[in-house]
Amino acid sequence: MSEPLLRLQDVHTHIGPYHILHGVTCDIPAGQLTMLLGRNGAGKTTTLRTIMGLWRASSGSIRFDGRDITRCSTPSVAQGGIAYVPESMAIFTDLTVRENIVLAARSGPVDSARLDWMLGLFPALKRFWNLPAGNLSGGQKQMLAIARAIAEPRRLLLVDEPTKGLAPVMVRSMIEAFRALKEAGETILLVEQNFYAASALGDNVLVMDDGRIVHSGAMSDLVADQALQQRLLGLSLDAHQ
Ligand SMILES: Nc1ncnc2c1ncn2[C@@H]1O[C@H](COP(=O)(O)OP(=O)(O)O)[C@@H](O)[C@H]1O
Ligand SMILES: [Mg+2]
Repeated sequence: MSEPLLRLQDVHTHIGPYHILHGVTCDIPAGQLTMLLGRNGAGKTTTLRTIMGLWRASSGSIRFDGRDITRCSTPSVAQGGIAYVPESMAIFTDLTVRENIVLAARSGPVDSARLDWMLGLFPALKRFWNLPAGNLSGGQKQMLAIARAIAEPRRLLLVDEPTKGLAPVMVRSMIEAFRALKEAGETILLVEQNFYAASALGDNVLVMDDGRIVHSGAMSDLVADQALQQRLLGLSLDAHQ
């Protein structure tokens, strides 16, 4: 089998004096949606930040498309085609929705067909096109942050807890948008606490605990195995809402 799009091997990350990632090993295959689950504090956000070079791995390796990016700067990781949507949505609240999207495309104007596609994924953004992004609801801001991340074609999307704190109707819209992104062939690594959303979307699943990957496999196998869900996620996730 060919190498996956992204491969982490025995990645350790220290934040100041704290040893946070204790040897993260995982593969993210191209063209699939991989869910990253685990209780609060397990190390999910630290894993995404380490991939982006926002934290520097103290040992281990991160390979993206066959290239070692372990020591790359964040701009160079982004330039290589990895987009990151942090939990604290990266948008400019004083600028309009349009300006937010225009600014996100670094290499020139957003292609109009791509813009239509993006606004089809997130129709609410079209309604608020010329309004300051600060006027959007929490879920709409999250959608704008994702739209910014895909304003240009990307090879890999890292998205941290996009449904956190959203009303059920917004969670459903978010699930629909990620379904469409999957259909478009995007490769996505998605951190999610909502097991309903995770099971609806994931092709593959990684479960983290205490800075390590403690389970990896097909999402459908985890969905079918309640004992495994209980063991891996039981007390930590809102597993059966
Ligand atoms: N800036 C930081 N300084 C010190 N410890 C941190 C920092 N960021 C995260 N941590 C610690 O690292 C661990 C993993 O955090 P995080 O990756 O945010 O977990 P998750 O995203 O799975 O909830 C937690 O124990 C957290 O307290
Ligand atoms: Mg987190």
